[in-house]
Amino acid sequence: MGLISQLEELEKRASALITAVQTEEELETLRVKFLGRKGEITLILRQIGALPTEEKPLVGAKANEVRAQLENLIEKRSLELRKGFFDEKIKTEAIDITLPGRIPRRGRKHLITRTIEEIVDIFLSLGYWVAEGPEVETDYHNFTALNMPPHHPARSLWDTLYLKGPGEELLLRTHTSPVQIRVMKKEKPPVFIVVPGKVYRRDVADSSHLPVFHQVEGLAVDKGITFADLKGTLEFFSHRMFGADKKVRFRPSYFPFTEPSAEVDVSCFCEGKGCRVCKGSGWLEILGAGMVDPNVFDEVGYDNEKYTGFAFGMGVERIAMLKYGVSDIRLFFDNDCRFLEQF
Ligand code: DAH
Repeated sequence: MGLISQLEELEKRASALITAVQTEEELETLRVKFLGRKGEITLILRQIGALPTEEKPLVGAKANEVRAQLENLIEKRSLELRKGFFDEKIKTEAIDITLPGRIPRRGRKHLITRTIEEIVDIFLSLGYWVAEGPEVETDYHNFTALNMPPHHPARSLWDTLYLKGPGEELLLRTHTSPVQIRVMKKEKPPVFIVVPGKVYRRDVADSSHLPVFHQVEGLAVDKGITFADLKGTLEFFSHRMFGADKKVRFRPSYFPFTEPSAEVDVSCFCEGKGCRVCKGSGWLEILGAGMVDPNVFDEVGYDNEKYTGFAFGMGVERIAMLKYGVSDIRLFFDNDCRFLEQF
């Protein structure tokens, strides 16, 4: 068989193989087999030397033609294979952009944090500033300096968690009132402060008690402050917090660090009709307050002939329960988002 027909046969055979090939690797193997430096075309061209001179250019031209033909075919097949590869990839790895997205849950401040901020903001608007103190307190600041020397019977009003510490006897503060002492020992009057913070009691949790809860304390000291200022201030606060339609009343009470002392009620949301929250009374107790006892001023070195003041303290969870109609204090810290998201 002449070299020309060998080349024609090669072209036919190679074309069929290239067209049928399924992967790029197999295609590369075929390219080497036919067009490579030691490939079949090269082998045929090696025999050219033995041909008569006039046939040489004819075979050379045919070989170039076949080579170009096969190169084209390989390039075409390679494109087809790659396209098939990507088509397949697109099909199997497809992302359905019509599916609805998953909306991430958005965080927000806890209801108790927001209630603290709301309370504090009302007093900031009156010119008060914020003070804070330690949760691990001394017996002195928590009791003695607040007109409760050791063994004073009023100490039993607070179920206290004691810590055995070196030096002074340490405890977890049972109220935010010790911060009054810390601030007055550091600052000269006038003093107008609110004190938000955690307090601790040796209590078993039930629907109205938690061993840890929050208070906001207030203290106003200046020349000429009277019980009328206390009433006006707490009435202003109650109206801002619970609504201008609410009535406010003061009942006589007792705290060792104030004299006289009072408890403050706002009219219930049932508008006096009597409901479960106010137990039929029509009133909700919201805080304790009073005029600072002169003994407390003596303890911090304030001249009680020159200065008078009032103080108050409220439970934040209680305020939030009354304002939002929550019947169990434990709900605030069970951290069930279905509860918390309602507010
Ligand atoms: N410290 C009191 C308590 O925890 C609340 C209180 C009552 C604070 C009267 C005061 C006050 O400053 O004047 O029960």
